[in-house]
Amino acid sequence: MRINDLSPDALTALQAEVQQRYQSLKNEGLNLDLTRGKPASDQLDLSDQLDGILQGDYSSEGPDVRNYGDVWGIPEARRLGAEIMGTKAEEVLTGGNASLTLMFFTVLYHMQKGWKGADSAWSNNPKAKMIFAVPGYDRHFTICETLGLDMVTVPMTDNGPDMDAVEELVRTDPDVVGLWGVPKYSNPTGCIYSEETVDRIAALGKIANPNFKVLMDNAYAVHDLNYPAPQLPNMMDAARRHGTESSLWLFASTSKVTFSGGGISWVASSPENLADYAKYIVSAVIGFDRVNQLRHARMLPDMDAVTEHMKKHADLIKPKFDVVRETLARELSDDFGQWNDPEGGYFTSFDSRPGLATEIIRLAGEAGVKLTPAGSTFPHKKDPENRNIRIAPTAPPLEEITKAVEVFAVCVQLATLNSMS
Ligand SMILES: Cc1ncc(COP(=O)(O)O)c(C=O)c1O
Repeated sequence: MRINDLSPDALTALQAEVQQRYQSLKNEGLNLDLTRGKPASDQLDLSDQLDGILQGDYSSEGPDVRNYGDVWGIPEARRLGAEIMGTKAEEVLTGGNASLTLMFFTVLYHMQKGWKGADSAWSNNPKAKMIFAVPGYDRHFTICETLGLDMVTVPMTDNGPDMDAVEELVRTDPDVVGLWGVPKYSNPTGCIYSEETVDRIAALGKIANPNFKVLMDNAYAVHDLNYPAPQLPNMMDAARRHGTESSLWLFASTSKVTFSGGGISWVASSPENLADYAKYIVSAVIGFDRVNQLRHARMLPDMDAVTEHMKKHADLIKPKFDVVRETLARELSDDFGQWNDPEGGYFTSFDSRPGLATEIIRLAGEAGVKLTPAGSTFPHKKDPENRNIRIAPTAPPLEEITKAVEVFAVCVQLATLNSMS
């Protein structure tokens, strides 16, 4: 639907028509939810074999998984993490059920202990800040807020963070201590960092202050919708080329591969970095759940098994992303906003005309469709242009997505037309 060329009378007529459609959708008494970036239960069913997979055989290449062991995790799980993140196994520590815990520990470690001792601790500088490309992932912002790190934003492009802006900040602002991002199927825009972006990120360690770190949360490393899948350029190899491995920290997990909140997670960095980090985190954990690591290693022994498994996820969720794409294309045009068509990950990101996100979300809520609150994809929940809305279509059944996205599109139409009258 195009509206920019309509006469004032035609706009008024259209507004009345859309208002009526909105009202009749509202009268349906819907109760739908597009907020949760989590798997649907049929996706979780794909991993039910985890229960009972060991059949009493706890043998691993590492020490007895039923007992306390080291904090690094079993060798099989470290190798799997290395394959998923594109690193060497000795560059990987396998964690528990949440990569967020490992990210929290990583920031805390740099804040409090410092990677080269007390003088290098980020907390020495009360103005220390991290760079984020926006829109981004709210829980990264929350970790910074919780641990007292400031945040500075740069625009997100189709190729990743605006690297001119990142480099300028790194060069000119001595308070910048890091860059945080989601390099593949970024949450929420779905972009994949390009070869050039990855290379420029790897080179940051050469122009930044010595305590500068890159935190890359590869949460959607294997979450492709189409095969052959697009590839993220190898981040650790790029760091090796530039000799900046010690400034790179990578994270991943099986939260949306097997069971959300019941999977395993990984952190990767240079072996020297990891050795010091491991010493730090053992004050909080003797070792993570190595029985669950073994279950995962048995179910997903290598990358071929991971790909085979992730194709089954794609079969289940691709139709949901198709519905989002088709509905938005049918109901809207770029007169109303811009949105992405992701090739993987868990989200579609929608940018309305400036100033309208809160109103669209309010209208949708009143019509029984819950959307993530406006501003959630920005630090301190403040979207300066009040336009970004994150749509998470994986969790509800297909019929519900179809209806929910229709309601969303009608709310975009109505809020836009109301703002023009
Ligand atoms: C970018 C990103 N990182 C991390 C997570 C959470 O990962 P985990 O369950 O391993 O803590 C999510 C979940 O939505 C996510 O979108």
